[in-house]
Amino acid sequence: MEQQMTGTIDEGASRSARSPSAIGKTPLKVDLRSDTVTLPTPEMLGAMTRAPLGDDMRERDPTVVELEALAARMTGTEAGLFVTSGTMGNLVAMLAHTGRGGDVLVDPEAHLMRSEVSGVVHVAGLFPRHYPVHRGFPVLDGFSGMLRPQATRSSFATALVCIETSHNNAGGTVMPLKDMAELHAMTKAAGVPVHIDGARLFNAAVSLGVPASEIVRHADSVTFCISKGLSAPFGSLVCGSAAFIERARLFRRMIGGAMRQGGVVAAAGVVALTSMVERLADDHRRAQIIARGLHELDARLVDPAEVETNIVMADIGHTPLTVNDWIERLAARDIDVRSYGRTRLRMVTHRHIDDDAAHAVVAGFRQVLEAARATAS
Ligand SMILES: Cc1ncc(COP(=O)(O)O)c(C=O)c1O
Repeated sequence: MEQQMTGTIDEGASRSARSPSAIGKTPLKVDLRSDTVTLPTPEMLGAMTRAPLGDDMRERDPTVVELEALAARMTGTEAGLFVTSGTMGNLVAMLAHTGRGGDVLVDPEAHLMRSEVSGVVHVAGLFPRHYPVHRGFPVLDGFSGMLRPQATRSSFATALVCIETSHNNAGGTVMPLKDMAELHAMTKAAGVPVHIDGARLFNAAVSLGVPASEIVRHADSVTFCISKGLSAPFGSLVCGSAAFIERARLFRRMIGGAMRQGGVVAAAGVVALTSMVERLADDHRRAQIIARGLHELDARLVDPAEVETNIVMADIGHTPLTVNDWIERLAARDIDVRSYGRTRLRMVTHRHIDDDAAHAVVAGFRQVLEAARATAS
């Protein structure tokens, strides 16, 4: 097993060591499909082999306890709960806040709606109502009118408000802190809790130049992932008040998410939180290399001012190629990207995308665009 893992790490290292001239000559790929493709660091694998362990459902696993306490400290909350995924974190948070039943106010493009809606409806028993959004975040003007603190004869009460920052499908946008404060004041007045889907909470914090706790103080709970830009092999944390986390812990067990010697993975999470947060700024800088490079190729492709974190959305609607053409032609140059709708390509930078790889992406776009235009003319 150890050998297998070492081989995987080597693959990650050589991926990040590629140069633009290597593009097309090597089977290694510049994989921009998601930051979920990141591999654990050698330091994480070392920590996993040395972690003190216990049965977390009996006397607790000391490494899980350490990770949960660290997560609570970093988010400025009373307690944390280790879960297997962002999806599970959001689900137990919804269950713990609402006890099943009621409306959840949410952005229709949120990950919760696009990828987790079955859990929202079937397991958490919530009815999603959509608020109007700007760049992924609730439009505050008129928002308080959407909050329904009491059930009426025909409608459930609003049980929860969910926001997402950074916002995946909006292109990594970050909710301004003053808007978060305003939103929280409205929801507190109505007695409705706010949950943050902060799968990329630390990208948002790094982009704002504040500790994560400055974001989370404007909400009642948060889920964040250690498995994405932070490079742990899997796992997420839910954080909030001690009473909320106790309820969430029960719901985690109910859905089969309680772990025994979870410290094996939590150890990687401790390394992720103590050593991988600040380097997210490199991912953001590389997203800017791509965004500015594409903007120079054709200003209609990307507005670099819209790129706030590690996600770049390129609009190829005006080019002679379809989204699938672009995906295929970039893949032929060892650059993997994903579609987002009929006219956009989505690229996510992460630890395995170095400066050379970011420049290679721009070069790949240039080659594809020039070839397509030459054929079209
Ligand atoms: C914003 C957001 N929330 C939640 C999730 C779900 O995380 P997981 O894949 O760990 O379930 C993702 C995954 O990409 C995400 O982008």
